[in-house]
Amino acid sequence: MVAMSFSSVSLRPSELPATASNRCRSTAYLTRRRPISISFAAVSPETSSAPPAKPEIELEFLGPKPGDTVDRAIAISGDKLLRTIMSDNKLELYAAYGKLMNCGGGGSCGTCIVEIVDGQDLLNERTNTELRYLKKKPESWRLACQTIVGNKDNSGKVVVQRLPQWKK
Ligand code: FES
Repeated sequence: MVAMSFSSVSLRPSELPATASNRCRSTAYLTRRRPISISFAAVSPETSSAPPAKPEIELEFLGPKPGDTVDRAIAISGDKLLRTIMSDNKLELYAAYGKLMNCGGGGSCGTCIVEIVDGQDLLNERTNTELRYLKKKPESWRLACQTIVGNKDNSGKVVVQRLPQWKK
C-alpha cells in the first residue's frame, strides 16, 4: 500500500504557465474574480505502510551423485514443510520405491529421507516420528515430511542432500 498526501495551492492568473488551455482558465479567473485552486497528490515512500517482507530461507538441493545438477528454491521462513517445498518446485524426493509407496507425508513410511548438509539450525527439531525412524541414522538425516523450513523469524541458507542413502 502507498501513502498519498494532498496539498492545495492558489494561483493568480499571472503565475499560471501560458499554455493554450490555461489561457481560457485565466480568462475565466478574470471574469469570475475567484482564485483557482489546484490539488496535488504526492506519493511519499517514507510514509508507505507496506508490510515488511517476510524472512526467507534459500534452499540448495544436491543430487545423490557427484555430477548431478544443483537445484535451488526460496521458501518463506516457517511456512512450509521441506517435502511440500520440494513438491511445489518439482524436485525429486523419493527413490523408485518411495515414489510408489510413500505415505503422502503422514510420517509413517520413512521414505522421504534427506540429509541436511548445512543450515540444520534453521529447521525445527527432529520430531518423535523422526526419532523413531532415524534412530540408527546420522544426526543430519531428516524426514522431509516432518521438517519445517525456518521458524518465521530466521533466514539463511539450507543445503539438502537428496537420497543420502544413495550418496556416492
Ligand atoms: S512421506 Fe512417509 S514418512 Fe515422510
